[in-house]
Amino acid sequence: MKKTLIVGNWKMHLNTQQASLLVRRLGERVPQHRDIETVLAPSMLTLQPISLEVDRRKFRLAAQNANAQDLGALTGEVSFAMLSGLVHYGIIGHSERRKYFAETNKDVRAKVAAAVRNEITPIICVGETRVERTNHETKQVVREQVVTALRDLTGPEAAEVVIAYEPVWAIGAGRPASAAAITEVVAYIRLIIEGQFGKNVADAVRILYGGSVEPDFVANILSIDGVDGFLVGGASLNYQQFADIVTKAHQLAAAKEQHA
Ligand code: 13P
Repeated sequence: MKKTLIVGNWKMHLNTQQASLLVRRLGERVPQHRDIETVLAPSMLTLQPISLEVDRRKFRLAAQNANAQDLGALTGEVSFAMLSGLVHYGIIGHSERRKYFAETNKDVRAKVAAAVRNEITPIICVGETRVERTNHETKQVVREQVVTALRDLTGPEAAEVVIAYEPVWAIGAGRPASAAAITEVVAYIRLIIEGQFGKNVADAVRILYGGSVEPDFVANILSIDGVDGFLVGGASLNYQQFADIVTKAHQLAAAKEQHA
């Protein structure tokens, strides 16, 4: 059985002290579960200090972004090569990076290749905007995002990636997408990957849902076939809410295991 993967994306929040405090509080509240993998994605600045403080039996780390080149004259940038050994995961192609930093599917593809080359597992964010959904372009948009992102990978490499389906209109909206909308797109993502790499790879890829995830929605969304976890934004900054999300996911996984 796949472990439930829960990723907290802190975005551009928390200075070093605040990040350290949150990690300490989470450490007290989040129990160690063998059926859950919990990942924290602090800012680039706080990754290093957090890596020294975090309880590694409970948490893994992710970068929120990095450059596709391993090194070079690129003032202000940090590469996946530099993050190798420090983080397990790299969030790539978040809609905020696509929107505010003009990241294209081609950029995402290069970053995914860079992450894999440096032994960092990519968490590839895909999802349609409100306008694209209204125009019935969701499938077309998500297909292009997924196919391009995975283009440079071999089957075994693709099997390891994580895809986060984050409908842009559900981010920070206070309410997640409906179960029907999530079900449809998650199934479609597996179909795309099956077409690209075959059924075994499609089944192996972990697919997360992201967009207004809060403790109250955990059971409903995790019971959707093919959803392997969450990419959490706002609620990951609140230790009670994030710990609740992890605990609820664990209860669900434990109940499932009992019935299996
Ligand atoms: P919210 O959980 O705040 O909606 O953010 C989702 C997100 O963008 C995570 O990457």
